[in-house]
Amino acid sequence: MASLQRKGLQVRILSSEEDEKLKRDQTLVSDFKQQKLEKEAQKNWDLFYKRNSTNFFKDRHWTTREFEELRSCREQNPSYNTERCKVFQCDLTKDDLLEHVPSESVDVVMLIFVLSAVHPDRMHLVLQNAYQVLKPGKCVLFRDYGLYDHAMLRFKAGSKLGENFYVRQDGTRSYFFTDEFLARLFVDTGYEEVVNEYVFRETVNKKEGLCVPRVFLQSKFRKPSKNPAPSSRDPDPGYQS
Ligand SMILES: C[S@@+](CC[C@H](N)C(=O)[O-])C[C@H]1O[C@@H](n2cnc3c(N)ncnc32)[C@H](O)[C@@H]1O
Repeated sequence: MASLQRKGLQVRILSSEEDEKLKRDQTLVSDFKQQKLEKEAQKNWDLFYKRNSTNFFKDRHWTTREFEELRSCREQNPSYNTERCKVFQCDLTKDDLLEHVPSESVDVVMLIFVLSAVHPDRMHLVLQNAYQVLKPGKCVLFRDYGLYDHAMLRFKAGSKLGENFYVRQDGTRSYFFTDEFLARLFVDTGYEEVVNEYVFRETVNKKEGLCVPRVFLQSKFRKPSKNPAPSSRDPDPGYQS
């Protein structure tokens, strides 16, 4: 098994068969079922973890390779330390993070394959919630499914909830992001874009002759500093005429 990775700003180009398949699958799940899925979202994730225990999502070792902000956390906290860590459960679209975390006290927020599980109409609530606890000048680190990821093309007819939004057999939902959609969501909430790019991986299994194109979107968005950098029209104090 080999895995190659490249980054870029362009959306993955579909083959004609893939394009036809997506165009064919236009029927949406009924409103009644969609409302049920929204109501039962937490229950469906709880059942997912019950079934999969810790086998499904492996340790995210790549996070320290991809996000330098996390390196010092790992170095300073080689093992879990209850004096430095606080664990709590919350629905990021409903509960106020300020009930658990002081305002503007956090150096890094990680949204790793979390936002895709939230209904697109409610994603802005997650970003607003994170904004309140993030220190000015600090970032949200994001990685999640990108448009035309292999997982998006595998959904059978009858799984589509909306544009780029699908439901799995177990009732958990997944959105597939474009860079534009994500940037708009963050910028409209008050963040500044630092990085926002697709990660393309091809997982090749030579033995079985399979090549699986994975697409992720990996991004950093910053809460603006309290003292914004001078604009280019401001006089440069270092310039001597
Ligand atoms: C695909 S899993 C990713 C889990 C983990 N971040 C990882 O990378 O292994 C999606 C996670 O989002 C969580 N989630 C979905 N909706 C949420 C919400 N409204 N508030 C908080 N967490 C939510 C689910 O409970 C689930 O743990």
